[in-house]
Amino acid sequence: MQITSIGVVGSGSMGNGIAQVAAQAGYEVTVFDISESQLEKALNTIQKSLAKLEEKGKLKESPKDILARFKKTTRLEDLKGCQFVVEAASENRDIKFKLFKELDSILSPGVIIATNTSSISVTEIASKTKRPELVAGMHFMNPVPLMTLVEGIRGLQTSEQCFKTVRQVAETMGKVFVEAKDAPGFVVNRILMPMINEGFFALAEGLASAKDIDTGLKLGCNFPMGPLELADFVGIDICLAVCEVLHKDLGDSKYRPAPLMRKYVEAGWLGRKTGRGVYVY
Ligand code: CAA
Repeated sequence: MQITSIGVVGSGSMGNGIAQVAAQAGYEVTVFDISESQLEKALNTIQKSLAKLEEKGKLKESPKDILARFKKTTRLEDLKGCQFVVEAASENRDIKFKLFKELDSILSPGVIIATNTSSISVTEIASKTKRPELVAGMHFMNPVPLMTLVEGIRGLQTSEQCFKTVRQVAETMGKVFVEAKDAPGFVVNRILMPMINEGFFALAEGLASAKDIDTGLKLGCNFPMGPLELADFVGIDICLAVCEVLHKDLGDSKYRPAPLMRKYVEAGWLGRKTGRGVYVY
């Protein structure tokens, strides 16, 4: 079956990026969020991003034509007609488990539900549905319109056909697909988050200033952003959540979250999204 319509659950920075690249790839897209104002904000972000891409000659169609394929809703049942769904709701186990149960009862049999989780077990998410063979991980990187990678994650129950379709959809969206096992942090976060965490340990020890830590990694390793700048960009709460999963599930003390990272989260200094993180915006 040719997939022409995609549902996206959640319209935060990952959800709106996924919706955008799906619409750019020619899919009819329905985005669900519980909050109407969040959906408005998402649409605004997508419009700005498309304008920027058009300015650079990176779009095959006008933003207007792309946006014509985009619908938003606050009713999950409106995803009923979608042929493929990507869940990008909050990185919270209970929220995801509940959503998967609901989606399973709303969507037609045979529809794949992919999760953009960055740290929760795909196998466990799949087990909350009656179609576990049709659940897989589809981990996009932030900012989705610019980052080329999608990590594909096979849960224990994921069928070969389902995984093949997830790869096809990711490639149609113009992404490069890598396969990772369903293990804590998959590949990217397993390696990236300990580096970000070490940035917080270094900052807390007074090894160097935040700016010098970031400049060190940017100019010393040719990274586009230093670890602390990247933590602010991703969200320090997200970084902490991933570090906690690595620590708990891999059981090795080398993954313990830096106390300073936790303090930032306790202060509500979550990074760019709250106007303050390691840096002030
Ligand atoms: N859509 C369209 N254009 C965008 C955009 C978007 N969403 N975001 C930025 N741009 C544009 C900017 O407007 C800018 O355009 P101009 O050159 O015309 O000014 C251009 O891209 C470059 O942006 P900036 O000048 O702001 O900054 P930059 O050169 O540093 O590039 C970046 C921005 C691409 C984000 C780059 O810094 C980068 O690659 N950073 C690392 C990102 C990264 O590591 N992401 C993975 C995070 S981990 C993750 O996502 C997984 C997880 O589970 C946590």
